[in-house]
Amino acid sequence: MPSAYIKGIGFYVPANIVTNKDLERHMDTTDEWIQERTGIQERRYGTRHQETTSTLGTEAAKKAIANAGIEPNEIDLIIFATLSPDYYFPGCGVLLQRQLGINKTEIPCLDIRNQCSGFVYGLSIADAYIRSGMFKNILLVGAETHSMGLDFSTRGRNVTVIFGDGAGAVVISATDEHFRGILATKIHANGEFAEELAMINPGSHGGVHAADPSIYGYNEAEYGETFISQKMLDDGMIFPNMNGQLVFKNAVAKFPEVIGEVLQASGLEKSDIDLLVCHQANLRISQFVQKAMGLRDDQVWNNIQKYGNTTAASIPIALAEAVEAGKVKKGDLISLAAFGSGFTWGAALIRW
Ligand code: ACO
Repeated sequence: MPSAYIKGIGFYVPANIVTNKDLERHMDTTDEWIQERTGIQERRYGTRHQETTSTLGTEAAKKAIANAGIEPNEIDLIIFATLSPDYYFPGCGVLLQRQLGINKTEIPCLDIRNQCSGFVYGLSIADAYIRSGMFKNILLVGAETHSMGLDFSTRGRNVTVIFGDGAGAVVISATDEHFRGILATKIHANGEFAEELAMINPGSHGGVHAADPSIYGYNEAEYGETFISQKMLDDGMIFPNMNGQLVFKNAVAKFPEVIGEVLQASGLEKSDIDLLVCHQANLRISQFVQKAMGLRDDQVWNNIQKYGNTTAASIPIALAEAVEAGKVKKGDLISLAAFGSGFTWGAALIRW
């Protein structure tokens, strides 16, 4: 059975830097509040009408494919993870395929959600496909354009200051070298908390998951306004909402737990980890995890200070940066871990 390894990696972030001071001009917030609670100093926003989730993903994908030393038409499956797609449907996978100029190959494009855990979920899927022998070169992309869907009034400040745009991509390929590549992945979810970190509207739910549909902005009209209502627009119910403290509490428990699971599945110990790359949710969460794992500063890679939380893109951006910075050598043991909306979470262990 072949193993799956990361043959190529790349990332792309928009040129437009938005500092905390810039956000102070739109909402009642301060650089001090943002840095103290999240560690974020600045983030990138895509250029309106030019850059989208799929175009950011395409730039990252081109770099990953070049880094892998293969041609775009050698890719035989695309997996695209995002919570901020260009269109409600179809997903970004087919747009990326077209933008890479490989639509004539008619390869399948799989769109996955899973928010902050999207990259780890995608890695787990790619690993299983490669090991089964079904595909040889899988392009996995995590990309987000949060800036187009955030509330820039003070009402949305607890969420808006956290998120940024960007994309990361990897080419995952088959190798006969055993004990190399993806050693283990573990993915989990608990739908009890589905609405605690969510963008609920617009959607097809019609309010059924709430005791009172009007909580989600529905009026009493028998027909119409079931997907999106004027009240949702007026009351800003079309933006993401987050129960920050509940997310924090669950994240700091689940990150170490799931990293422990992949270590156990591989017969390895915390002390074997050379580099930990956590989903960049919040610097305080990453520092908490680092402490729980007993890792030194040089054994973790954080870049949320520069990019904010880029959700499905954050792990591949951070990993690509660490690789570019020469932090990753062949044979190193890398742990990736994520937690986010759903709640969903997961981890992967990679022998580079
Ligand atoms: N600027 C200034 N004040 C703010 C801002 C802001 N951007 N946002 C909220 N506040 C105010 C609140 O209104 C509140 O004011 P009040 O006391 O007058 O009511 C006060 O700050 C405290 O608000 P809390 O929400 O209680 O702040 P908390 O200390 O919990 O920090 C935070 C919020 C940073 C989100 C924290 O809960 C956290 O770190 N949670 C983890 C969630 C997270 O990191 N999510 C990332 C995305 S999800 C993911 O990737 C897993």
